[in-house]
Amino acid sequence: MSAPNKSYDPVEVEALKPENIERMRDEALAAFAAADSLEALQEAKTAHAGGTSPLSLANREIGALPPQAKAEAGKRVGQARGAVNKALAARQAELEAERDARVLVEESVDVTLPHDRVPAGARHPLTTMMERVADVFVSMGYEIAEGPEVEAEWFNFDALNFGPDHPARQMQDTFFVEGPKGPGGTDGGSGVVLRTHTSPVQARALLDREPPVYVVCPGRVYRTDELDATHTPVFHQIELLAVDEGLTMADLKGTLDHMVQSLFGADMKTRLRPNFFPFTEPSAEMDMLCYVCRGESVGNPDRPCRTCSSEGWIELGGCGMVNPRVLTACGVDPEKYSGFAFGFGIERMLMFRHNVEDMRDMVEGDVRFTRPFGMEI
Ligand code: DAH
Repeated sequence: MSAPNKSYDPVEVEALKPENIERMRDEALAAFAAADSLEALQEAKTAHAGGTSPLSLANREIGALPPQAKAEAGKRVGQARGAVNKALAARQAELEAERDARVLVEESVDVTLPHDRVPAGARHPLTTMMERVADVFVSMGYEIAEGPEVEAEWFNFDALNFGPDHPARQMQDTFFVEGPKGPGGTDGGSGVVLRTHTSPVQARALLDREPPVYVVCPGRVYRTDELDATHTPVFHQIELLAVDEGLTMADLKGTLDHMVQSLFGADMKTRLRPNFFPFTEPSAEMDMLCYVCRGESVGNPDRPCRTCSSEGWIELGGCGMVNPRVLTACGVDPEKYSGFAFGFGIERMLMFRHNVEDMRDMVEGDVRFTRPFGMEI
């Protein structure tokens, strides 16, 4: 900075000459106009409007002028700086608007694109169906009980009152582990089978607990069936067992009605038909009202129903009052306690509930089958 000049002696300060101020202003305006990005403008701002820019330095020189010259020089510099700041603000606004417009295009999100390249997995419809049924009973206070899939013959048959020569042993189409038993079923063999039903969990549950017992047993079971549209050698059942004082067939019927109403609607009901199972006495086959036609297709040729073949009822599974011999085999006093039980296949329920026509679709693992069931987890 030049030294103060107190006397009236209009010293010519080079930087404050009008042509120089004009040049500085013009250079600043040109630099701002040439800045093609906010970063470039920031550099131009530092160079032409910052504290060490030519105009700022010139401004400091004003103090070195004699008083009479200060006003004019101050006005000249002030106007130049005003013009520079105005141009800077205008260019800044322009470049910001350009950036905002560009960002809107570049960073826009196409919400119609798939959100994920790897679709999340979902549990198999058989699993969700089985759990949905089990949940009905869990909400009534039943406990989930499980047993092994490789099961002792004693649990699978003997404890359930299938005698050694009982024809039902053969009817069960059993997979024997390490060879079948000899004729009659008693000698030879390992005494170990792949369980043919979930009923052995009844015996296990009774041996594990003191009555009252309220258990529901979902699980995988095996039979030597060929895989076709209506059979599979590996399938699923759900079993229910209640043992308490004073239980009657009315409790069984009420429980079945509650289950079908929870799963298929409040106006549903069940019916029982006499049947035979070694482990229940009396035993029954349980049917539920056809949930599609609600029985209205019966005798009504104008409204045929494919789901129930216009019979009005769908066969669900077996049930009955627990045979006292089973209670005794499991250490429960049949004089004091009674019980009811039922069991049915999950595949069948999935078939008629969702119009699945071929059981093979359930085991082949093709996601085109499972996907329409949604992502329920
Ligand atoms: N375990 C039988 C089957 O696989 C079904 C069954 C019938 C289960 C009657 C039961 C019952 O609990 O009481 O065919």
